[in-house]
Amino acid sequence: MNSPANRTFYIETFGCQMNAHDSEKVIGTLEHEGYRRVETEEDAGLILYNTCSIRDKAEQKVFHRLNEYKRMQGEGKQFAVLGCVAQQEGEKIFERAPYVSLVSGSASYRNLPQMLDRLQAGEQRITGLDDRQTDETFDTEFTARSNPHRGYITIIEGCDKFCSYCVVPYTRGKERSRTSESILAEARRMADQGYTDIQLLGQNVNSYRDPSLRMSFAEVLAAVAALPGIRRVRFTTSHPRDFTRDIVEAIDTIPAICDHVHLPVQSGSSAVLKAMQREYTREWYLERISWIKNATRDISMTTDIIVGFPGETDDDFEQTMSLLDVAGYDAVYAFAYSPRPNTPAITMEDSIPEEVKSERLQRLLTAQRERQRVSYSRHQGQIMDVMVEGYNRQRGQITGRSSQNKTVNFTTTQPILPALGSYCQVRVTATYPNSLVAEAVSVR
Ligand code: 5AD
Ligand code: SF4
Repeated sequence: MNSPANRTFYIETFGCQMNAHDSEKVIGTLEHEGYRRVETEEDAGLILYNTCSIRDKAEQKVFHRLNEYKRMQGEGKQFAVLGCVAQQEGEKIFERAPYVSLVSGSASYRNLPQMLDRLQAGEQRITGLDDRQTDETFDTEFTARSNPHRGYITIIEGCDKFCSYCVVPYTRGKERSRTSESILAEARRMADQGYTDIQLLGQNVNSYRDPSLRMSFAEVLAAVAALPGIRRVRFTTSHPRDFTRDIVEAIDTIPAICDHVHLPVQSGSSAVLKAMQREYTREWYLERISWIKNATRDISMTTDIIVGFPGETDDDFEQTMSLLDVAGYDAVYAFAYSPRPNTPAITMEDSIPEEVKSERLQRLLTAQRERQRVSYSRHQGQIMDVMVEGYNRQRGQITGRSSQNKTVNFTTTQPILPALGSYCQVRVTATYPNSLVAEAVSVR
């Protein structure tokens, strides 16, 4: 049992970057409450599972895992289910998995210390499920970031967009932004600790509205980029509806703002976009692409696409395919439509047969891979800065990331390898559809 002197926890995380970063905050909170993190379930008194319900497969994984945990229930361990499945399924989780003691959605994490107290007192069915209408964000100074050089800051939580296929507004609650002062204070603390690369996070990061009315989203980007020590500022995910020109201007004029925009389109057909309740048309999206393409810097674009949304015709799908050429994406994350509980689209007939969905998915991914082979080749011979992330000793390569977020594998003739988190200037010598090969030019 978790005695006060030896409280240990194990945490497993699924889903998006928001979830990954939530877990960093949960870990920091637990450590502040006197818990020690361990690497295996066997060693842990408390097992936490931070879950994702974006698609049915992700959700099934959670219940599969909970079943596996069943065998450990006799060992005096406690179990907590956090995140989107926790919020979506709520108390039903206690019925399916009676050995679970705590179920909490992300909007309730600021109450974690109290929930942990109740857990320690041996309470059985603790819930954090009623905070989705909150105006508060989960700000904590105890974030346990997993990387000492590159880190996330959540600037906006929740979502008010209600796309017809999406669970997020129901699992993460109402949209709420942090003040620009609090974001900058956290960024400054990170810079003082040696972070050089900061990624601003939000389900719709560019829907950011400063509650203190001081800064626009583009101004927040610029202000973080201006902090001493910060070399790279990234942001994800952008929503086309709220994507404004000043964001492109900020990227174009401030080198520390990374030259990459992830702008999910979901579909290239205005009819499908309407059914998806995306609040923009193909033309609206194309206009934003043209702003990005017309910038002086080469701004890398990536996107998310759903194929097989109810009613998607062959012609609709061809319109999505044609976007690949217009946009010239550097990565496409494509998914087969998956009907989700509570969403408006669940009432539409899931009319596209699974074989057609997977055929369309395959066609899209194959076509995109070919285009990426071409688009990545534009980097051949270029000189770029790479942040060192690791070493592949077998292949004698150093691995890192470019400002555009591309993987770069490079070699150096220096006897001492560059440190993790340092920046190296490299020259690209070969290109692939998903990575670049390079050689170091000089080490700084
Ligand atoms: N089915 C399939 N894909 C989905 N996504 C969101 N909801 C669904 C769904 N019900 C995709 C979108 C989103 C990404 C994170 O996941 O493309 O941008
Ligand atoms: Fe999954 Fe969406 Fe929740 Fe992220 S916000 S964990 S993608 S359901």
